Amino acid sequence: MNNRIISPSLLAANFVNLYQDIKKVENLGVNRFHLDVMDGHFVPNISFGPFIIKQIRKETESHLETHLMISNPSKYYTDFVNAGSDTIIIHSEAVDNVEKEINILKSLNVKAGIAINPDTKIEEISDYLYLIDYILIMTVYPGFGGQKFIDKCIDKISYCKNYKRDNNRDFEIGVDGGIKANNAYKVFDAGADIAIVGSGLYQAENIRKTYNELIDAK
Ligand code: DX5
Ligand code: ZN
Repeated sequence: MNNRIISPSLLAANFVNLYQDIKKVENLGVNRFHLDVMDGHFVPNISFGPFIIKQIRKETESHLETHLMISNPSKYYTDFVNAGSDTIIIHSEAVDNVEKEINILKSLNVKAGIAINPDTKIEEISDYLYLIDYILIMTVYPGFGGQKFIDKCIDKISYCKNYKRDNNRDFEIGVDGGIKANNAYKVFDAGADIAIVGSGLYQAENIRKTYNELIDAK
């Protein structure tokens, strides 16, 4: 066993059979889920909010990381905390003052994460890396599942890995978008701790085989 973590994105699950889709991957060893919240404003698509997360929370003890692809996220922090999110990730592009938002999240006793879009330079958020629990490096443009992995984002993973080493910090590095069994090695080799996988897992013909390939990807 290695220490690679797969966090399935439930956006790719069947919401009519969500319970089965959660248990199906927990039986393979999953203990963390990625919840994609979209508002139709920060991103063009609309997904789900705290109401659904609260129901998911009742069915699982897995860690729930909530990826807020929404404008004005602070308006909803307490709703997502009360719904049962363990980590809340905001987009650096969606807020005016990243440091202030991270400090608010931390005061709410959740792990605080920043997500960074493919076209946002890592230098734009590097001043906040000392503060966060989690960085989510987007390898697709947020808004939809099933998109193609953008290779140029890999350098940001290495940057964060080196930052952690050089500054003796231990935040987690998650990578989100377009990850499949055949490219997962790229993100893990670059230094990712957690790979978010939606369609690459839930649309797999053989989910157990694919999960094992993701974990062992070379
Ligand atoms: C994109 C979302 C991703 C997405 C991942 O807006 O943030 O989490 O659901 O799905 P796949 O693995 O299908 O790219
Ligand atoms: Zn996501």
